[in-house]
This record gives sequence, C-alpha cells and structure tokens, in this order.
Amino acid sequence: MGIQYFEDGKVFKLDTKNTSYILALVDGEFIGHAYYGKKLSDYHVCHLMRLEEGPFIPSKNNRDRGAFCDAFPFEYSTHGVGDYRESCLKVQTEGGHEACSLAYHSHKIYSGKPALLGLPATFGSESECSTLELVCLDPVLNLEVVLVYSVFEDVDAVTRSVRITNHSKEDIVLKKALSACLQLDGTDYEYITLHGSWARERHIDRRPLTHGKHSVSSLRGESGHQDHPFLAVMSSKTTQETGEVYAMNFVYSGNFLAQVEGCQFDTARMVMGINPENFSWTLTKDETFICPEVVMVYSDEGLGKMTRTFHDLYRNHLIRGKYRDKKRPILINNWEATYFNFNTDKLLSIAKEANKLGIEMLVMDDGWFGHREDDNTSLGDWQVNEEKLPGGLKTLVDGVNALGMKFGIWFEPEMISPDSDLYRAHPDWAIKIADRTPCRCRNQFVLDISRKEVRDYIYDRIKAVLSCANIEYVKWDMNRPLTDLGSISYPPQRQGELSHRYMLGVYEMQERLITDFPHLLLENCSGGGGRFDAGMLYYSPQIWCSDDTDAIERLSIQEGTAIVYPLCSMGAHVSDCPNHTVGRTTPFKTRGEVALAGTFGYELDVTRIPQKDRDMIPSQVAMYHKYNDLVRSGDYYRLASYSENHEYDCYEVAAKDGSEALVTYVEVLRRANFKTRRIRLKGLDQNAVYENEETKARYTGDILMYAGVQTPETWGDFSSKLMHFVRVE
Ligand code: DGJ
Repeated sequence: MGIQYFEDGKVFKLDTKNTSYILALVDGEFIGHAYYGKKLSDYHVCHLMRLEEGPFIPSKNNRDRGAFCDAFPFEYSTHGVGDYRESCLKVQTEGGHEACSLAYHSHKIYSGKPALLGLPATFGSESECSTLELVCLDPVLNLEVVLVYSVFEDVDAVTRSVRITNHSKEDIVLKKALSACLQLDGTDYEYITLHGSWARERHIDRRPLTHGKHSVSSLRGESGHQDHPFLAVMSSKTTQETGEVYAMNFVYSGNFLAQVEGCQFDTARMVMGINPENFSWTLTKDETFICPEVVMVYSDEGLGKMTRTFHDLYRNHLIRGKYRDKKRPILINNWEATYFNFNTDKLLSIAKEANKLGIEMLVMDDGWFGHREDDNTSLGDWQVNEEKLPGGLKTLVDGVNALGMKFGIWFEPEMISPDSDLYRAHPDWAIKIADRTPCRCRNQFVLDISRKEVRDYIYDRIKAVLSCANIEYVKWDMNRPLTDLGSISYPPQRQGELSHRYMLGVYEMQERLITDFPHLLLENCSGGGGRFDAGMLYYSPQIWCSDDTDAIERLSIQEGTAIVYPLCSMGAHVSDCPNHTVGRTTPFKTRGEVALAGTFGYELDVTRIPQKDRDMIPSQVAMYHKYNDLVRSGDYYRLASYSENHEYDCYEVAAKDGSEALVTYVEVLRRANFKTRRIRLKGLDQNAVYENEETKARYTGDILMYAGVQTPETWGDFSSKLMHFVRVE
C-alpha cells in the first residue's frame, strides 16, 4: 500500500516508487503540507511546517489566528478566514457571506482509485493504486469537503481531486472550487508554461518566479491554443537531466487556472483548477460537486524525467480503447488537399493513389454534409450532401474499402451554423444571451451541449451517419471558443454553471460514442490543437496537434506538446509545400521524419504532388512501420531544443529494455564551414554494444551516452536525419 497513516504524529505518507508526499494534521484541525520530493524512509518531517515559530498554532495563541492562517502551508486553502494567498475554495451563502474554514473530520485509505463521475480521470487497479480520502468539514456552513489523493505504484505521480457536498438546508454557491494546492518552500524557482496561438500551440515559456501571482488560464470554454493547463515549477538551474521539478497537469478540457505565487515568507503556492471567473455552482441540500483531477509529478532528475513520468502515466492509466497500445493506421486527410472542393470521384482518386503507396485510411474532412461549400453554413445538418457524394456515404466508403483501405470522417458536433436547418428549427439551441446579438466566430455559434435534448439530437445524427457505412475513424473538431454565455435551461443564479456543464456534456457525448462504437479510432481536434489536453486523451488516444503542418514550425509545437503528452497521442501529418500556413518549402524527407514523432499520416493531394515526393512515400510508410512501436512505447529524451538554440533540434526515443534507440536530428538552417555536433544518447545499457544501422559503426552504450557521437553531416536548409542504434551484443 503506497499510503500510510502514522497516528503518533498524525501524519499521512503517500509513496510512489521514487517520491514521498507528506501531510499532517495539526492541532486536530488544520491539514498542513509537510513535504513533497524524493522518497523518504521516515515520516518525521513536520518540522518543515515551522510550527514552533510564530505565528503559533491558534490553540496555543488564538489572538494570532489570522497571522497563523496566512503563513500555514494549507493542503487546501479556503477564502475569507485569514489566508490571503490564493484560495482554492470560496462560497457564497444565502446570507451573502463568502468565508469558509475547513477542519479535519476523518479519513479513509483504500486500494484502487475511484472514477470521477462524468469526468475524465486517470485509472488503475487495486494493485496499481491506493487512495486517501480526507474528509473535512466547515461546521458553520455544514459543508463537507473531501480531499482525494491517489498514488500509483509504478509511476511517480500523485493525483488530486475534491468532492464538495452541501449538508445544510440552505443553498451554498461555490464561487471557486480548485482541484489542487501545493506549498513549496523557498521562492528560488523558475516555471514553465505552454503558450501559443492558433497554428503555434504549446511553445515552451520559461521564466523566473518572483513574488506575486503568475498564472495562465482559459476562459474560452476549451483549454485553448493560447495557454495550457500545465505548470511546472523548478529549481532555477534545472535542465533536462538535473534539478527538481514540481509539475501539475489538469485532466480537464474547459476553463482553467494554473498559478504559482511567490508569497511573503518566501514560500510558493501552486494551484490548479476550474477558472473561478465565469464559474459558480449552486449546491442544494445534499448535492455534490466534483472538481476535476490534477496530476502532480515530482522529478529530481530534471524535466526529462518529469516528461517520461507523464508519458508513462498517460499511456498506461489515462488513454483507453482498442488503439491505446496499437499502431494507428496511416491516414490521408483531404483537408489541405481539397478543402471544401471535393466529391466522391476526387476522394476515390486520392484513395486509389494513396493505397498504391501504402497509405491505409482515407479521412474525409469538413464539407460533406448539408450544403457546405465553405465554412459559412450547415453545421448541425449532419446529412450527406448527395450532390457531392452521389449514392451517399455508403458508395464512397464501399469504394474506399474495396481498395483495402479504411475510411474515416470529420464532424464538428458542438457547433451550429446560423444558416442551417437545425438553427432555423431551434434557434434557442445556440448558446447566447437574450437581447444580445451573439458573437459569431467562423460564422458559427456553439450549441448548448449542456442540454440533454441538444446532446441527444446531435448524438443520434452522428450515430446514424456512423451506422450507415463502415466508418472506422472520427475526427471530432471544435472550431470556435464559447462567448455570450447564456443558456435558457438555467435560472439567472445558475448561469455561471454553463461552461462546466458544457464540458460535462461534451464528455458524456464522447463516452457514448466510444461505448457504442468500441472499434472506432477517435481523434479530437480544435481548430488544430486548441483542445489538446489530458481530458480529451481519456476519450481519444490521439489529438490533432496543430493546423500548422510546416515541419519547422512543428519542431517547437511538438516539443512543447511532448513535454507532457506521449508521442503516440500527437496527430502529425506530412503536408504539401509551400506550406499552407507559413509558405515555407522544406524537403519531403524532413516532413516525413518530423511527422514520425506523432501518429503519422498525410494531408495533401497525393495525385498532384511532385513525382519525386510521391516516390518517397512508400519508404516513409516503411519507416513508420519500422519505428512506430518504438516511438509509441519508448522513453522520450530531449537531446537539444530548437526553441532554445534556434539552430537545430534533436530528440531520442529509447526502448524501455535498452535494445534500440532512434535519434531524430533536424538542422534548421545550414551553417557554412561548420563542424558536426556532438550528441550524447540516453537510456541505453552502458555495458552493451550498439550498431548504427546505417553506418554499421559500433559503440558501447557508455560511449554513446557519456562520450557521445557526431551528428551526421547535412546539406541544405531544413534537413533531417534519423540515426537508429540497435543493441548487437
Ligand atoms: C480545423 C482542423 O484543425 C482542420 O484540420 C480541419 O479539420 C478544419 N478545422 C475543417 O474545418
């Protein structure tokens, strides 16, 4: 059991293989954080809470309770009773008061990990996980708050969530209900967030921590392109291999807040949860609210170990379904090939050529339904446009299947076009505020997915489409954020529930989809990578990473994404040049080797690309088949970062058993009269002998890891090279 309670010190010790997380009851009331870090053999660390220094524990000196609360390392901070750092919980009572104070009531420790009703969450069996539930009460409000912690035996991760139940007769409104709080000693830290925009998602942003609040957030109703629900705080000299890192990642896809605060006594507080802006939630008697899960990872071996911990956790304890551990079919998507200008003949011509080259699945993107010839109409009218696809979907899908290929389809289920039969029939199904002209984005509105009748209608349409032919893949897109938050389903005081209820609705629809169609490969997407998050990974094993398919832009996008998410989840395609987003022309070879870091596919008109590029596809297909098992399941090491050095990019995937390693090297701009670079591999067996498959040169593992090898010579800009090392002795 990874969780122990020591009655003598009233200490809870949560252990993973290499980490300990220790909290303690103080004065029978307060729950304080004592330690998170490298695994300890003992639990006597409560001196770290500095309880012998003033301001003293209130029972010893109640005149300074306020000062005590403002310094105590609370496990879960509450608003309005003396702690002026960021609070996790804020309420509003019928009397209009916002204060809340929690005292320990009881606890329970058990094997396994509970599911979070209606929410995505990591999972594990009774032998893989154990859970601590700390029940706290605010006796004045009659509010019960259960802090839920789970630890994994095989991964150095601790998960947190919170269950809040109103036991009073009066309504209590939650104004803020964050999921996790972590106290850190000192302020000599730096922190990493993932920043971006459409077509340049999740670029790594590293800054020093100073006093005050540093936060990233979303109010867009999705995790978003701009900020990301991930935060890593680390000692200031932390590298890929050395230094301490404390990371939080939110298993949620909607509005979020991730914040670290440098506090007055030179401590730091990290918090994460649903963004309190745009949020309120009324709890009537005996109702419960569940805060989504936060995953916490500690690494004492730099960012690299943090990354590999997230990858292992998500590959084994978050991603589900038939494709979780499997090679995904190589797909060709017609979006950049045709945009809206396609018909059955065109798609079949792409499929025929693609099939000859070894591509395994055709995905029909946006524009197959209603009368959608551009992005102005028809969202919500999920009937096939028979002018484009005569004979309907079945004719097309049968044609594709007859070639021996699979077929996939695009939907944007959460949206409605003002120009659609659905909107004409149900204008009130769009999220909007009465008397205010709702904001259009891409000329579309967002459906009120929080309403069951709306969900049921849309889900039934999707189900009907998927049932009419042999469709084996769905790309679930979402192309605009939420605005004009108003739902006719709720009374005025409950309008603040809409964004979270919307997310619960999306999760419910996706759960239904993967339950009804267990063989379906689902790929989430949001205008590229606007909803690439751990919440979505619970439903789809892969997510479209970005609309930017340029190989060089992708280096930073994929590096930032892979800092948290496993390579097997990153949708990455080879596209045509000049690139549609940045106009850059890169070698076809480089495009293939960069896309190899993800799920791999094509996004081009294979009937029209240059013959020399087309000729290269069979070897790229072979490359994918050769390396994908390793890329999907291996350990990821960032050897050099183009976003840091602005010259070249290099990462390695090493097999967990040390039997092979693949290094991908991209020289962005060729420098004149310049020597090759030295790279040092990781994750190998230092006593084994490895062969570079191409050059046949042999090296011991220790030479590869400690002395290093030269990168291959390259020629021209944007060139790439793979190096495959295989254990031979
Ligand atoms: C945004 C996606 O990221 C693209 O791949 C494409 O599916 C378009 N939407 C279609 O509207």
